[in-house]
Amino acid sequence: MSLSHLATTTISNPTISGNPLRKSTRNTSGSVRLSNRTPYTSCELNKQNQEPTQNGGIDRRNVLLGLGGVYGATATIANNAIGAPMVPPNLATCHPATDDETKLPVACCPPYSSATIVDFKPPSSSEPLRVRKAAHKYNSDDIAKFEAAIAAMKALPKDDPWSFGQQATIHCTFCNGAFDQVNSKNLLQIHGSWFFLPWHRYYLYFWEKILGKLIGDETFAIPFWNWDSPKGMYLPKMYQPSSSPLSDDTRNKDHYSSVIDYKYSMNDPNPSTPAQIDEVVTRNLAELDSIFKETLQLPALFMGKAQRGGEAAANAQGRNEGLHNVFHQWVGPLQKPYHNMGNFATAGKDPVFYGHHGNVDRMWDIYSKLRGQKVEFRDPDWLESSFIFYDENRQVVNVKVKDCLTPESLRYSYAPEPLAWTTIRRKYKKLQNAAQTRSAGDSLKLKPVSEFGSAPRNLTEPIQVLVQRPKTSRTKNEKADSVEVLFIDGIEVTHGSTARFDVYVAKPIEGLAGPHNGELAGSFVKVPHAHGGSGAHKNVSSLELGISTLLEEIDAESSQKLVVTLLPRNGDVVVGGVQIRLVDVDDDDL
Ligand code: C2O
Repeated sequence: MSLSHLATTTISNPTISGNPLRKSTRNTSGSVRLSNRTPYTSCELNKQNQEPTQNGGIDRRNVLLGLGGVYGATATIANNAIGAPMVPPNLATCHPATDDETKLPVACCPPYSSATIVDFKPPSSSEPLRVRKAAHKYNSDDIAKFEAAIAAMKALPKDDPWSFGQQATIHCTFCNGAFDQVNSKNLLQIHGSWFFLPWHRYYLYFWEKILGKLIGDETFAIPFWNWDSPKGMYLPKMYQPSSSPLSDDTRNKDHYSSVIDYKYSMNDPNPSTPAQIDEVVTRNLAELDSIFKETLQLPALFMGKAQRGGEAAANAQGRNEGLHNVFHQWVGPLQKPYHNMGNFATAGKDPVFYGHHGNVDRMWDIYSKLRGQKVEFRDPDWLESSFIFYDENRQVVNVKVKDCLTPESLRYSYAPEPLAWTTIRRKYKKLQNAAQTRSAGDSLKLKPVSEFGSAPRNLTEPIQVLVQRPKTSRTKNEKADSVEVLFIDGIEVTHGSTARFDVYVAKPIEGLAGPHNGELAGSFVKVPHAHGGSGAHKNVSSLELGISTLLEEIDAESSQKLVVTLLPRNGDVVVGGVQIRLVDVDDDDL
């Protein structure tokens, strides 16, 4: 069964049933076969079951902590150092954060410093399903209703937790250093790890419910910016008129009628001719296609790496988050401190943030359905992790990751849209071939390349290195068991600044590098965020990219080494190392 077949038969149907009997017969329309073997083991957790089954008979944390899995907002964890689910912050301990660019304090604290916190109860299945529609397809009635809801939210008193400004502050609360984690000096941070998708899912969920409440419509659904479809690759028009409550005058208006290039880096000119636009759209779609293909077996590559309670921020974005960052930079202004969309401290102040994240969340939903809704991480440190939100009943609730694994479990869904990226490969290949023959005239220049070495290197100009593969000519079965991953480690970037570099992979020609960088394996894209004030002012991040499909495409499966090119795009970046390792598909983390 091909990916595109699945996309049309499965994804257009938002009501994939959660039949627990499917466990051993996964090759139904709701699952993806990644190989000719039974892809999932018996210790899987299906999202509808929502109970972690035992991993090898032992729950690591219960053994270590003797805990039964009870974590209230005020619960503390015996010893954070050994890892545990993330718990909500202690409300009384909120402190100012500092914007590293402006050196000014950023107010990220909630408007309440104490609250009775109750456990979130997922909506019952009798509640109406709220169906989110693509923003570019909104008709005038849809727009009027959405505008009325936003206007009502904007009209609330400033310190009302439902007000537009306070809702925006929540984003800052969870990512800008306003809270230390409970029993830890490490700051609360939900970006750059496996918390990125579930946290934002809940954030939008409550925002949507509150908006619905404000206009007295319990079926009210927010729009999503359908940027994975050719017609959606523009800032949706309804956000643009300056008279609209959906506008934001801090945006880069040069992009108002331009197509977005996923390869955008600060200051890049807009593609303008029809041929350029067509090329950009094709490349965007091809990138989406490769994001899904290269990550499907190993959720950490799509969702971000593990982050456990008490630990320092993982700073390891998945492909979904990395791509999402490009939109923050593209919508936001070119000037420091990049407010609003271009800086996490302020991003929630722009109404388009929520449309953008609607699609980010939808990408997770598509990813999940392509995997037959097999849970992404079985680790209780993910499933039992919790956050707090101020809900549509004016109650602070403690939500757990395990209760938001499907949109349907929160009683919303995405209106089906065609997935153009599932059928783009052939056109993209043609484009690539044309580009390469054009420059083949300047004679095949082969250059010797060395290995990365052990010392960190400044990415002031392209770094091209030869990287050893752990194994060549892997069989289908081997590929089903482990994923070949390119690790870029020790990436150092200054906190307040933006950064981007692109990673290309090519097959060496007689041990030398050819004239082309090869195929894009992925990108590191960083959006500035404010910071708690103390501690290191450098972010140390890592980037992990699956390359199995890419290697098949460039016919490099038998190469012992690969030529990896790191292409700087913006920001001051230092790179610590480049490696290729095999990661077992049963591993929750990389
Ligand atoms: Cu919390 Cu788009 O970022």
